[in-house]
Amino acid sequence: MKNPHAIAVVYSLPTKRVIASPYADTEQDTVDSAEEVYEALKVKGASPKLVPVAEDSIDAIAGIRADCIVNLIDWTGLDLPLSDVAFTAIEHTGIPYTGATRENYLTTSDKILMKKALDAHKLPTSRWQLFEIGTEPVRRDFDYPVIVKLAFEHCSIGLTHDAVVDNVQELAVRVRQRIKTFGEPVIAEEFIIGREFQVTVLETKGGVAILPPAEIIFDTQGPESLLTYESRWEETTTDYSSSRVALPRLTARLGAAIDSVTRKTFTELGFRDYARADIRTRESTIFILESNSNPGLSDSDEYGMTVSYKAAGMTFADFVWTIVASCMRRFTRPPSLALRR
Ligand SMILES: Nc1ncnc2c1ncn2[C@@H]1O[C@H](COP(=O)(O)OP(=O)(O)O)[C@@H](O)[C@H]1O
Ligand SMILES: [Mg+2]
Repeated sequence: MKNPHAIAVVYSLPTKRVIASPYADTEQDTVDSAEEVYEALKVKGASPKLVPVAEDSIDAIAGIRADCIVNLIDWTGLDLPLSDVAFTAIEHTGIPYTGATRENYLTTSDKILMKKALDAHKLPTSRWQLFEIGTEPVRRDFDYPVIVKLAFEHCSIGLTHDAVVDNVQELAVRVRQRIKTFGEPVIAEEFIIGREFQVTVLETKGGVAILPPAEIIFDTQGPESLLTYESRWEETTTDYSSSRVALPRLTARLGAAIDSVTRKTFTELGFRDYARADIRTRESTIFILESNSNPGLSDSDEYGMTVSYKAAGMTFADFVWTIVASCMRRFTRPPSLALRR
């Protein structure tokens, strides 16, 4: 099938700061993802072009000519301001671009803004507290265990088992330690012991679809079971082999609850094209850990998203093209408006 569309795959290259850190793999992942997306677009007969963007070449975005931009800019942590500049440059091209708006991206890349947004929309998430200096009095109504997460990171950066604490004294120590080590604020939130799911949302011609949820199966289910950095990135560790992604059987009640909360999150936060909610459940009570507005794209079976689109009968190319088509549909003028010009 001939596909007339020129698609630019815009993606961020690892920054010098990240290359010098222990977390370079997380940004190399974006490069690998761009290459996979490029191949998927070729499978669909489109004319893709890779546009790598380095921290000192964001200006190159202005020169892009394409019908659609697949936006894989994903600088986070202390590099988040670079993503802000890149999203603004993409917006200025006037070319339809996939997924998160600048505002969506900045909100979901900052766990403080995200928790505030979830609370403001009355979406279920565990009780939390922000620590900017580390000496703030700890809220008294926390039910322990509590987890300490870095405010601006993703990909489980900063998550080791000692991020989960059992009491207020340990919490105060961990909070100060993390702020000192990483030089950014942290949030503490009640740790939900229960099942964990990654739920992919995809906008299709027929409307917002919630794909079959993927479950993260842990060997045990307690405060020791969480997606640590090692469990996601360090293949030789015991943590890595202590969890895996699978397609679960869900009771109708739990399935409906997950569907409804995920759908509500997507629409209320104004997400576009695709997204992934990371959630935990206790019985049929749902807690949103976070909602990713531009989640990583890959055909690897280690990704919850991959398990989900395959369960929905899609290939990676189908999945990518559905995102691109949704994006281009959004920017197409209704015929009545087109006629008036
Ligand atoms: N409140 C929580 N209760 C239980 N586990 C949590 C909680 N918050 C985070 N986790 C664990 O830590 C992992 C990473 O947390 P998440 O908020 O998704 O941040 P990231 O942006 O690093 O993916 C989750 O996949 C989950 O295993
Ligand atoms: Mg997550």
